[in-house]
Amino acid sequence: MNNRRNAAHFAGGVKTVLAERYRDRLPITDSTPIVSLGEGSTPLVRAERLSARLGVEVFLKLESMNPTGSFKDRGMTVAVSKAVEEKAQAVICASTGNTASSAAAYAARAGLPALILQPQGAVASGKLAQTRMYGARVLEVRGTFDEALAAAQELAERGTHALVNSVNPYRLEGQKTAAFEIIEELGRAPDVLALPYGGGGNTTAYGKGFLEGGSTIPRILAVQASDRSTTVASAIRIAQPIHAEEVDEVVRRTEGAILTASDEALLEAWRLLATEEGLFCEPASAASVAGLFATELEPGSRIVCVITGHGLKDPETAARHSPQPAEVEPDPDAIAAAVA
Ligand code: F0G
Repeated sequence: MNNRRNAAHFAGGVKTVLAERYRDRLPITDSTPIVSLGEGSTPLVRAERLSARLGVEVFLKLESMNPTGSFKDRGMTVAVSKAVEEKAQAVICASTGNTASSAAAYAARAGLPALILQPQGAVASGKLAQTRMYGARVLEVRGTFDEALAAAQELAERGTHALVNSVNPYRLEGQKTAAFEIIEELGRAPDVLALPYGGGGNTTAYGKGFLEGGSTIPRILAVQASDRSTTVASAIRIAQPIHAEEVDEVVRRTEGAILTASDEALLEAWRLLATEEGLFCEPASAASVAGLFATELEPGSRIVCVITGHGLKDPETAARHSPQPAEVEPDPDAIAAAVA
């Protein structure tokens, strides 16, 4: 009962919130004040043209439909709720952009200050604008994501800030719930699950979720950029994946694989999702689909691709890789001539 009062205070939404929906499978107790923005319960949509191309049945799990536009919200609701329960005074993270937006939003919701460390010049503008709007303190680190993460970890050890990167186990607990939703929606686990591989937290979380999900275990395909340090997909521009060992274990245990996609393949899959499926995601999210084209698939098998972030997160890359509009006078003849 006590928790319901707390939940009402911080959540305030009509949608069933993730931490309530999977309460019995999360480290949530009656004394955890749930900080929620109505995350989770994301759509799982069939991709007809992609399925036809590949001779399999492809579904897209639209994690881009979470409150801040990425899958990070699933983990952040749990991490920030626990930070409040543990009386943290502030949160900190290093981020290529999405963790930052999510941490900033949930911190704002909880009334906590957020300190964001981001690699200078390497964060897409939509994410940066969002994070600033939520009122977070943003510092641009002269260095890589990996260096920013190491600094965040060291600072957190001093006890002033709760670290909400995926090394915080509550993040992965929240993120594993996507696997539960997929099982519920399909009636069983898919044969294959494909997702982008940056730091590897999400792959680890899905591995755990399917293990606890009470269904079969899909082959997990973790798809990384072939050049991790320079990829166009800034979300996964991470040279040293911090969860590498856990990801190796997940793909071994699920008879999956770690696949690589070139920037060209990634952009191709990204455009295909937009033009043939009407699904505009950010470039990193298309890694899951690029991976399907880079491996052998059992004909007719059922596959879920995790669409991790929204296309509006990275408008510059979209503008660079899509047709420029032509200029025209506001005149029907001129317009007809322009498209003839
Ligand atoms: N897709 C998107 C859109 C991401 O933002 C990330 C990671 C990933 C995939 C990879 O997930 O790291 O769990 O393997 N973004 C982090 C961030 C690094 O700071 O927002 P992972």
